[in-house]
Amino acid sequence: MEPLSPWTTKKEVSEPKISINIAESDPSEWVLEGVPISAQLKLFDDVSFAYELKLAKMELSRFYNDLDTFRERTAYFEEIDGRKTHHYYISGIRGKGQIGHTNQYLTHWFYPYKAKFHPQMIKALINYIGLKEGDVLLDPFVGSGTALIEAKTIGVDSIGIDINPVCTLQSKVKCDLLELSPEDLRSVPRNKAFYFFDRRRKTLQNLEKFVVNVSESRQELTLDERVYDFYLLCYLYALSDYTYIKKSMWWAFNDNLDAILRTVGKFDDLKKKLDIKLGKVEIKEGDARKLDLPDKSVDGIVTSPPYSIAVDYIKNDLHALEYLKINPGSLRPEMVGLRGNGDERVRLYYEDMKKSFEEMYRVMKDSAYCVVVIGDVTYDRKRLDIKDNFIAFAKQVGFSCVDVIRRPILGGFARLRYEYVIIFQKT
Ligand SMILES: C[S@@+](CC[C@H](N)C(=O)[O-])C[C@H]1O[C@@H](n2cnc3c(N)ncnc32)[C@H](O)[C@@H]1O
Repeated sequence: MEPLSPWTTKKEVSEPKISINIAESDPSEWVLEGVPISAQLKLFDDVSFAYELKLAKMELSRFYNDLDTFRERTAYFEEIDGRKTHHYYISGIRGKGQIGHTNQYLTHWFYPYKAKFHPQMIKALINYIGLKEGDVLLDPFVGSGTALIEAKTIGVDSIGIDINPVCTLQSKVKCDLLELSPEDLRSVPRNKAFYFFDRRRKTLQNLEKFVVNVSESRQELTLDERVYDFYLLCYLYALSDYTYIKKSMWWAFNDNLDAILRTVGKFDDLKKKLDIKLGKVEIKEGDARKLDLPDKSVDGIVTSPPYSIAVDYIKNDLHALEYLKINPGSLRPEMVGLRGNGDERVRLYYEDMKKSFEEMYRVMKDSAYCVVVIGDVTYDRKRLDIKDNFIAFAKQVGFSCVDVIRRPILGGFARLRYEYVIIFQKT
């Protein structure tokens, strides 16, 4: 792994000019300050938070001498020398609930999931930690698959692991969709797919059979496992809309399906137009405390462990777990952050996170970077020092802490004020 670029280190960076008033001037002035290039770079108009400007500068620090590649990989720049970047086109494939160029674009929106990463931020971090085409990124708490989708669109291979099968399913489908075309998905008539999965919801006996003999059941609908998983997720999405917002199942199924077909069609065209080379993805159910991966096998980690007690991930997925015949009672004791109550819960959370840091360190190649995103959480009306504890655990296992970036959380979870992006290196 190469050392970090010269002008992000304290020695060679000229500090941002105090005279620049970011509110009144173009923030690019600060981002480009000290960068040895003469090209014209334009940030997206909505890049304005200090953490975004810092990330823009950090990703640029990796590519300032290869702006052609940077145009394909950048997350925060809209134009380089008058030419639009890939992120401009990719984030232009808009999804439900999208804000600017930061979230919910491409397949990110496809399934409701709380506590997702901001994909734009993750892309910049993957750039900063120096992962190249063919390198392997790991997210051991993969959740809804955000990091894997971002890695895939810039040709970086990835492995995603989660203890919750609803998470591995959604991550897999959202990555598979980037490889598929609308025609592949239309190979199964939508009403046939809907009634196939609905029949199983209505008959417990069939549901039993469906789960026990999944491969036989899959062939009743399609031979393509990716198309089967897609329609299963589409059905579970409709079930979620029905359970939580009382939409009609058939209406929700169609509405989501129409929208995702548009997304898939647009990306299918875009990847041909821009010649986007997609990274490979491997997703498995597993435990971040006991990773089923060889020592020194991954080139970098970007992950976000459960925010202690802030989100009950199981509660959000009860409808889907029930459908898939997975007992939430057997999942809960395996989930980091959901074991025990009161002070015991905090103690167990830290114990589990220590094991996770040991495992992340073990599977990473020497000098590789590990980025951990974590919120500050209040539990029993006490603010937990999660960031400082994580840094201490990571140092105990051998990581050095390279940087900490603070990001404000607006709206959403009132209990979280800030999120911290902690960058470690295996030394
Ligand atoms: C904060 S979320 C990750 C969100 C993800 N970054 C995204 O953008 O969607 C944390 C995830 O950790 C998973 N998790 C909890 N305990 C785990 C364990 N022991 N091993 C692996 N994953 C676990 C949860 O199921 C949840 O999906």
